Parts: sequence; C-alpha cells; structure tokens
Amino acid sequence: NLPRLLRLFCQDSTMNKPIPVIAIDGPSASGKGTVAQRVATHLGFHYLDSGALYRIVALASQQAGIAWSNAEAVAKCAKQLRLRFENEQVWLNDQDVSEAIRSEAMGKGASQVAVHQALRQVLSSVQHDFRQAPGLVADGRDMGTVIFPDAVLKVFLTASTEVRAQRRYQQLLAKQQAADYQAILQDLLERDARDKNRASAPLLMANDGILLETDHLSIVEAVERVLENYQALL
Ligand code: DC
Repeated sequence: NLPRLLRLFCQDSTMNKPIPVIAIDGPSASGKGTVAQRVATHLGFHYLDSGALYRIVALASQQAGIAWSNAEAVAKCAKQLRLRFENEQVWLNDQDVSEAIRSEAMGKGASQVAVHQALRQVLSSVQHDFRQAPGLVADGRDMGTVIFPDAVLKVFLTASTEVRAQRRYQQLLAKQQAADYQAILQDLLERDARDKNRASAPLLMANDGILLETDHLSIVEAVERVLENYQALL
C-alpha cells in the first residue's frame, strides 16, 4: 500500500539522514581552529568557528559602550547584529572585522561575554543555521556537549598550557606583533579557568568524545587522526 511504501522510501532515503556534524572542542590555542578548517576543506564540509561569534559580540559591545559584564545589554546587542561570513572574512554591520576580532583583547572579551546564558541562548540558533548539507565541522567549547549533541564525531583537542602558550607566542612573533611569553601564559590560565568553571556550557569533554592530545602531534597528524576517526564511522 502507498503509505507504507512512502514510509519505507523515507526511512531508506538519504533525505532522512541528519546532516553530519563533526564537533571539535578544546581550550584556547589548542590548534582546533586550524585542524577543524582543514578537516572541513578535506571533506568539502562547511565550517563554523563559534569562538568568532563570541569575539564579534565582545567587539560590538565595546563599540556600543556596553560593559562585557552586563549580561542583558550584551545579549540584546547580539540580537541586533548584522553578520556576514564570506570565505575567511567576517563582516559586522558592513565593517570587515576579520582582523579586529583576532586580537588578544577580543579573545579575553569573548571569554567574558561567553559566561552569560542569555547570550549563549541568542547565539545558539545562529550556530544551528551553519548546519547545512553536505556536513559541518564546528569548533568551540560546547559544540559536542550543548550545540550539536548529536554530532557523529566529537573530538576534544587539547595540549598542555605551556605548549599552547608557546604556540601563541610564536604566532604573534610571526605576525611581527609584541609578544611576552609570561603574559600569554598567564592570560591562557585565566581564560581556561573562566571557560571551564562557568555555570553555563563550560568547557569539558563530551562523555562520548575522543581525546586528542597534541603536545607531540603536528597539525597534519592531528587532521589525519580526526579524518581516520570520521572515516571509521562510514
Ligand atoms: O576559540 P576562541 O579562542 O576564538 O574563543 C574565544 C572565547 O569565546 C573563549 O575563550 C570562550 C568563548 N567561546 C565559548 O564560550 N563557546 C564557544 N563555543 C566558543 C568560544
């Protein structure tokens, strides 16, 4: 009969399958952004840098004279954002903010606005909109635990604080920016503590996640491990 045939068709059809998400979470400077981007490129998937959203909100709040501690005003500011992502560029109300949001100050600001549950709520649907066929690689702190709990693969990418501080230090030097190793280390410790200990969606490994320690892994090796784990699921 027709209804049964239709039901069978839908169950078997790929139309019925949810769009796959690979979640890559981890602390600051763990290299998850680069790894996630390369995995996405390799698979032809879309890429979500969720940290960029918190950084944009920190910048927009600052430009509007809103204190990062003001939960209500920060969430309201986020609701009014006009955002556009184009290749590697991010536009905020027709202003190219790709460079501005990458500063250490905006990283710190992002971590401060990110404690507000009201803001996380606003950004939740923005992040869900990135889930488009054929798939998504999403990096952040709560991709596998909160935003995409049904992700097919959840990776927790991390490295020791010293290795992460050293990487950030080298990145700044390469960009010919002032870099103070001790200050970077201190800043990372503070951000880790704030991201891990906040009440709302703290940084933690998902129960069904896999741990990828990158102290002794290159970016290429880390990308390979993620791809191997994903391909093992197919
Ligand atoms: O990944 P990043 O360094 O660009 O993130 C900046 C800050 O944004 C980070 O310290 C905490 C916050 N963040 C978050 O709370 N949840 C996410 N999914 C991504 C980032």
